[in-house]
Amino acid sequence: MNILLVGNAAREHVVAETLKKNSEVKLYSYMKANNPGIASLSEKIEIGNYSELEKIKKFAKDNGIDFSFVGPEDPLNEGVVDALLEVNVESIGPKKVLAKLETSKSFTRDLLKKYNIEGNPGYKTFTKNNITEIQDFFDNLEEVVIKPDGLTGGKGVKVQGDHFDTKEEALAYCKEVLESHESVIVEEKLDGEEFSFQCLTDGKTVVGTPIAQDHKRAYEDDKGPNTGGMGSYTFEDHLLPFLKKEHVDTALKITQKVADAIKQETGEYYRGVMYGGFILGKNGIKLIEYNARLGDPEAMNVLPLFKTDFVSICKAMISQELGNLKIEFEKKATVCKYAVPEGYPEAPVKNEKVEVPSTNANVYYASVDKKEDGLYMSGSRAIAFVGIADTLEEAEQIAEEAVSSVKGKVFHRKDIGTKELIQKRMDHVNQIFGK
Ligand code: AMP
Ligand code: GLY
Repeated sequence: MNILLVGNAAREHVVAETLKKNSEVKLYSYMKANNPGIASLSEKIEIGNYSELEKIKKFAKDNGIDFSFVGPEDPLNEGVVDALLEVNVESIGPKKVLAKLETSKSFTRDLLKKYNIEGNPGYKTFTKNNITEIQDFFDNLEEVVIKPDGLTGGKGVKVQGDHFDTKEEALAYCKEVLESHESVIVEEKLDGEEFSFQCLTDGKTVVGTPIAQDHKRAYEDDKGPNTGGMGSYTFEDHLLPFLKKEHVDTALKITQKVADAIKQETGEYYRGVMYGGFILGKNGIKLIEYNARLGDPEAMNVLPLFKTDFVSICKAMISQELGNLKIEFEKKATVCKYAVPEGYPEAPVKNEKVEVPSTNANVYYASVDKKEDGLYMSGSRAIAFVGIADTLEEAEQIAEEAVSSVKGKVFHRKDIGTKELIQKRMDHVNQIFGK
């Protein structure tokens, strides 16, 4: 079985590891930069940009690829899945037009609205043509969130109270966004606890995986600038202490309805990951956004828990037989913590050496280069450490011990997966529900 893996982050490192658990798999990896973890699991690698579609097609053809797994949003947005279909290679990952689920926030909000699917907050899309109406919309909302309509690497969203204070500032930011984007979305700001629900779908059946919670802020106690995600955890019951099964059922129902709506709207089946960022607040479960890929770091929590052969799952997604497969997960808790360069995310040190300890944790490489004398950081999140155990406490200890013994100019968040932080999340939910 020859599988093409596209992507070079820690998320793709764990995808590679999970696919390779099936001894028939030979991995061919197309990466933007050489990830030493992925390279060590691959028969062959090719380095290139995700826009070089001919190069990707050739790499697939030359290596007799059976199917591909496209990890990040950029190649999905470049149409890598569509290009591979031209050489008869099917992919785990949606075609470009379906990846709009992530790449166009207005597409997704409008889809939920049109098909009467619960989960949207109050929202409205503005262009240069109707920006004069924005004040009326602001007047209806206590606090707002402003989102550029398009891929911004998670960095364009601004939240009132966090990134700006007044509606005047909100308007100024909307105008700024419209200089570089066709449209901007204004949403009602929701208060609650966010969770990551990574679902797999063949376009017909949607299957959920254990619920994870990410930590976006750079510093302990949720302080500091937003990052790609500093770490994440899952519980052994696959829920979170403040999240009940009925909440997950609602999120799954929404996602199934969205998959059905996509088929109806576009005539195409969505095959791949539908990762919903949801929030539990006073009005129940609301959708923050969908991503058309696994989460980073959340993939590192969930993929190691699959008991069912992941290759069989991928094949069932391609043949649209996911509904016939029983998918099982280990009843274990996981904690993932990233070691990131000092100064990350705003002014990270670069080309600094890191040394990785020998450890009981799973180790996944992200933004590191392998040179003759060792590993060097290239500026983004560097290495993820995942503890897996019967309880969250043990999983946290394994991850913490590993990440804190990394040598080099790095830091990490000690508080991820700790009792204190989880109690804070529970207190937050209790306060929202007036308990
Ligand atoms: P997004 O790129 O849509 O995931 O937004 C980035 C982050 O902004 C999310 O993870 C949330 O923390 C926050 N956010 C987005 N939309 C809302 C909303 N309607 N209410 C409150 N926070 C939001
Ligand atoms: N963990 C956030 C993301 O993958 O977008």
